[in-house]
Amino acid sequence: MRTFRDIPDLRAARASGGGPLALVPTMGALHAGHLALVAQAREIVGPSGQVWVSIFVNPIQFDRAADLQAYPRPLENDLAACEAAGVDVVFTPEAASLYAPDRSVEVVENSLSRNLCGASRPGHFTGVCTVVLKLFNLVQPNTAVFGKKDFQQLAIIRRMVRDLDIPVSIHAAETLREPDGLAMSSRNVRLSPAARAAAPLVYQALLAARDTPGPPAARLRAARALLAQASPPAQIDYLEIVDCESLQPLEKLDRPALVVAAVFFADVRLIDNVQIDALS
Ligand code: PAJ
Repeated sequence: MRTFRDIPDLRAARASGGGPLALVPTMGALHAGHLALVAQAREIVGPSGQVWVSIFVNPIQFDRAADLQAYPRPLENDLAACEAAGVDVVFTPEAASLYAPDRSVEVVENSLSRNLCGASRPGHFTGVCTVVLKLFNLVQPNTAVFGKKDFQQLAIIRRMVRDLDIPVSIHAAETLREPDGLAMSSRNVRLSPAARAAAPLVYQALLAARDTPGPPAARLRAARALLAQASPPAQIDYLEIVDCESLQPLEKLDRPALVVAAVFFADVRLIDNVQIDALS
């Protein structure tokens, strides 16, 4: 496995060829969910292709300075995990080499990013789109793999690729969960022991909304009732049932839908979603 910090080295490695290339963009603090993306990337490119992982805690997508500062950065462990997972190249750029001090061009998505995480995290998806496009331009992958856990991010990246004719095919990976149902996340390590014990309620609430019969409003009431039991208390940022395609709230379940939630335990914000397949 090779590790590059500097852009000229990365470009030289890319120019030396090596078959189909799949990129897994991450912010590090890698867990089994990230490694499942790596495994999917390997399946796509095959044994003779290349799997590249980027690890970059992208400052321009954080809306809260404290969240950026507290974001875990266990680089040595991450590199060992990549090596063990058969990654070919890890790219770990410095913010100063990716962002010029007078940078003035951004990628703004104007529809899907208006609600849910976009509403509560101003500028977040502009930061995500901008860094993902930069990573695509630097690495020039054939394929990139993203997780469905960040469903809105996935939808926005697909939209960016479509609308800007970016020659990268986007693959989606299922959400990996802890045995108690909590979606794996780099932020889970920041939960207090009591909040960690309560956090599986987020997934249980999503399942309650999925499995309660009736219109979205009744399903969301069931989900809220479960989350209200959390101790320490869970503060709901949003809890909605939305159209899978447009991400707009649904009043009737007449098309494929997602139950989506963002919940704070103290200052740790967790997001998760489940699909509602059966229409009722
Ligand atoms: P990060 O939160 O590190 O996530 C990297 C990738 O791992 C994303 O595609 C995310 O959806 C996926 N992922 C996270 N938790 C997962 C889980 N439990 N199961 C399956 N996949 C999971 O998302 C980002 O970084 C950044 O916004 C990034 C795209 C790298 C741009 O900075």
